[in-house]
Parts: sequence; structure tokens; C-alpha cells
Amino acid sequence: MTSGGKKQIKVGILGATGTVGQRFIQLLSAHPYFKIHALGASSRSAGQEYAKATKWKLNTPIPDEIKTKVVQECKPTAEGFAECGVVFSGLDHDVAGDIEESFRQSNLIIFSNAKNYRRDPLCPLIVPLVNPSHLSIIAHQKKTLGLEKGYIVTNANCSTTGLVVPLAALEKGFGPLKTVMVTTLQAISGSGYPGVPSLDILDNVVPHIGGEEEKIEWETNKILGGLNSSNTEFDLHVSEEGKYGRINVSATTTRVPVIDGHTASVSVKFRDSKPTIEEIQKAFREYRCEAQELNVPSAPPQAIVLHEAPDRPQPRLDRDLHNGACVSVGRVRPCPVFDVKFICLVDNVRLGAATSSIMNAEIAVEKGLIV
Ligand SMILES: NC(=O)c1ccc[n+]([C@@H]2O[C@H](COP(=O)([O-])OP(=O)(O)OC[C@H]3O[C@@H](n4cnc5c(N)ncnc54)[C@H](OP(=O)(O)O)[C@@H]3O)[C@@H](O)[C@H]2O)c1
Repeated sequence: MTSGGKKQIKVGILGATGTVGQRFIQLLSAHPYFKIHALGASSRSAGQEYAKATKWKLNTPIPDEIKTKVVQECKPTAEGFAECGVVFSGLDHDVAGDIEESFRQSNLIIFSNAKNYRRDPLCPLIVPLVNPSHLSIIAHQKKTLGLEKGYIVTNANCSTTGLVVPLAALEKGFGPLKTVMVTTLQAISGSGYPGVPSLDILDNVVPHIGGEEEKIEWETNKILGGLNSSNTEFDLHVSEEGKYGRINVSATTTRVPVIDGHTASVSVKFRDSKPTIEEIQKAFREYRCEAQELNVPSAPPQAIVLHEAPDRPQPRLDRDLHNGACVSVGRVRPCPVFDVKFICLVDNVRLGAATSSIMNAEIAVEKGLIV
């Protein structure tokens, strides 16, 4: 039973042995709404006890009740998945598309970290500190696909997640943005385990992460965009010339020798307004979101932590704030080209991945979308 007296919902984890999967296990092992029931990974791991199948990389031990749990193949018919009220996915994108669809077709509810369904016109792309209202498209998704219960909700690329939270605070305070320029400094764990070879990343910066810039430019507009009044279509602002997106976003992504925590340098131009730096700092400090109003278990007390020190945020010092569930913002200053520039930091595996999926599912529980 949960602390509120509700029955805990059984959950499955796909990709349970990977970087994101391990965070799911850590975060769900003592969760008030959810109880881990089934674990899935590739055929290399299936049939083995979890502790043997995974290379555990977190600084807390594998929870006792998980160590001897047998990893299953990622099939909806594999032991345990049919009883799950939610299935969290930390699958590689090259396999996530087909596997997640097979779970949805079996009337299971998927909360996914993979990129495969983020652009799907029926699937919400949700950063829980920004746009949980997009969950309203789920009824249309189920109806269109003729499914009684199954649906897919995705969360964003890890860098996009860290970016859109401060951008949402700016739009809430001062109206639409016109242009965003962002350069990221992304952690090694962002590419999963074992990730970039040490000889490529130590003493180095790699100025290219395949597909990442397009994800930031595209996803930002879906997340900050609207849903029509009948909750059936996202407003993606495609112009007659085919130009996509309400906000012009230009991203440059780099990989740096940091284990966890993606940093971004951001410059923003507003469409109509010209707030002062003090007003912008206040908007960051006072930003509140629906996850906080609903008081779901993973919602951080502050969605944005505004740092005053000129040398913050830093990944090593700030990624653990509020258990990695918030975005740190600092160095808010005038931009001589646009209006304002700042630095933001997100824990890429927590708010950037597992925490977002879990918080999205908590919100879905509160909205009666998971029973
Ligand atoms: N790392 C991050 O910061 C981050 C942030 C946001 C989103 N994501 C996304 O989350 C997903 C997982 O990323 P990750 O970093 O956790 O990757 P990872 O460490 O490489 O883990 C991948 C997982 O997928 C499983 N898998 C691989 N091939 C499979 C197959 N054919 N059938 C079933 N399972 C298979 C692996 O199982 P085995 O152990 O058995 O091989 C493992 O559990 C990706 O889509 C990634 O883009 C990652």
C-alpha cells in the first residue's frame, strides 16, 4: 500500500540493465505509487538474475529484492509484464520502436525514453516540469489505434529537458520567444554504457553528437507548443514554405569529460517583450509547474534553482540538487546580440531520463490515466 493508502501499481522496466534502467531501479525501489514487478533486457541478459546480467554503476547498492530477480526478454508475453499497470522503457532506439509498439498493442501503458515516438503525432512528448497538459491527447491516441488501454508517452532528449524548463519560465513570464541559440557540454553517461571510449574523451572535447542538434531544435517546439482544443493535434507551426517551429532554435552539441550532468550555454531573444535581468531572475526563481501543484512524489520543491555565484552551476557541485529532479540556472546576464543569456544544467540520467518518465507516470496517475 502507498503512504496515502492506495494500492501500489506493478511496473515493468525495459532496458533494465542499462544506464537509464539502473536509475529506474534505484528511483522505483522505494516508490510510494509503483512497485517493480518485471525486468526486461536483450537476449544477452534474459534468463539471468539481475545482479549477474548488469554492470551496476550507481553509488547505491542494487536493491536486495531486485538482485535475484530474473531478467526477461522484452516481450509483452514474457513473465510478469501482462500484470503491469505501467511499463517504463530505457531501450536503445534501434530496438525501442518495435518493442514498445508490441507492448502498446498488448494494451500496456509505456513511458519511454527512446526517441522513436517523440515526433509521432499521436504521442505526447512531455517534460514533467513543463507540459503535462499534453497528456490530454492520450484518449485520441487510444481511440485512433482502437486500443482500450494501451498508449505511449515519451519524454524528451536529455539536453532538451534541461533547456525547456528555463525557456518555459521565460515564456510564462514574458510571452513568446523568438530565437534561442544553445551550445551544450554533455556528459559521457548520455550515450549509455560503455559510451565514448576513454581515449576519445579524456583530455578532450568532441564537437559532434549524432542527431542531437536536430532533436533539441525539433523537440523544444513540440514541448513548448500547444494542443488544439479537441486534444487531437499538436500545433507544430509549420509555415507554408515548410519551415518548422514557432521558435527559431539553433543548437550546437559537444561531449565533454564529465560523468553525469549536461551543461548548456543559452542565448534568448523574446518576440515582443524586453524584461530586465532582475525580472528574468525573478521569473526563474518563482517558476512553478503543474507537477508541483499536484504534489507528485518526484516533483522537486524548486523546478529551477537559480544560482547567484558567478561560477555556478557546475555538474559536480549541482547535479544532485533535489535528487537530480530540477534544473540549475546561473550566470543570467544581458546578451549583446539577443536579449538575455544564461547557463543551465540538468542531470541527464535523472530529470533528463528516468525521473522524467517516473514523474510523467505519477502525473498520469493523478489525472486518472493509470488505474
Ligand atoms: N543515458 C542518458 O543520459 C539518456 C538520457 C535520455 C534518454 N536516453 C535514452 O534512453 C535509452 C537507453 O539509454 P541508456 O543510456 O540507458 O543505454 P544503455 O546503457 O546502452 O542501455 C540499453 C538497454 O537496452 C537493452 N537492449 C539493447 N538491445 C536490446 C534488444 N535487442 N532487445 C532488448 N533490449 C535491448 C540493453 O540490454 P542488455 O544489457 O541486455 O544489452 C540495456 O538494458 C536510449 O534510447 C537513449 O537514447 C538516455
